[in-house]
Amino acid sequence: MYPMTRPVCKPLLPVYDKPLIYYPLSVLIQAGIREVLVIVPPGEEGAFFASLGDGSQWGMEISYAVQPVAKGIADALLIGCDFLGEDDVCLALGDNIFWAADLEDTLKGAAANHQGATVFGCRVDDPRPFGVVEFDQFGKAVSIEEKPAHPRSNYIVPGLYFYNHQALEVAANLTPSARGELEITDVNLDFLRRGQLQVIPLEDNYIWLDAGSPDSMLDAANTVRDLQQKGRYMGCVEELAWREGWITPSQLRRLGEELDMTAYGQYLLGL
Ligand code: G1P
Repeated sequence: MYPMTRPVCKPLLPVYDKPLIYYPLSVLIQAGIREVLVIVPPGEEGAFFASLGDGSQWGMEISYAVQPVAKGIADALLIGCDFLGEDDVCLALGDNIFWAADLEDTLKGAAANHQGATVFGCRVDDPRPFGVVEFDQFGKAVSIEEKPAHPRSNYIVPGLYFYNHQALEVAANLTPSARGELEITDVNLDFLRRGQLQVIPLEDNYIWLDAGSPDSMLDAANTVRDLQQKGRYMGCVEELAWREGWITPSQLRRLGEELDMTAYGQYLLGL
């Protein structure tokens, strides 16, 4: 993503009218998750804090931790160990965007499963850059491979993972992959082998976007604009926190008034 990420870390770049990180954050809110640990590269805490603060403006508790070396997605589970205590965990990648009319029900259902792990499956044309999940004739996941040269299906596992507390132990016992990373696919495989991985296919009424490249960021921005022109905002953390009952209507109005020169602020004031 260089040179555009030289001054600004990818999750803080805009996707249409808001920082990219608002979208995964809005997914966590819809899952009912109020306490969030944002894991950032060294030196970026200030920039993330300037964007999200401590979360209290949205009735949330947002804290920050640094990943000193980019050692892979599963490393987040180890970094988050103290933050999690005895709790289960939802891990959301900072560049994945989800939208569906019934997304909240799907997410709250996944968060309520404490038996093992819940991940999702999205159909894409080219699954090779992703974790690829294969289903048997009964719709049961039978294999997951990270970035396979010859994918066994067109279903990829997007960057949103619900795990029970066992995931921390699984992550602690991983060995780095050929690319030197602790692979989240290896965590998922561990749950799969124990018969504790639920993979929910997200059908065509779901939008999933990985805003991890300039092209996909542009596609994501266009998708957000098209949807918002129909009147419903994507990734609007203020609205979703209010719908969860975490902030009052008057707090929402105040947040709207702070931005009242913008379409975003006017949307909040119109809710
Ligand atoms: C990562 C995961 C991959 C997943 C993808 C979703 O890929 O390793 O399994 O499908 O995120 O965005 P990476 O971003 O490391 O290429």
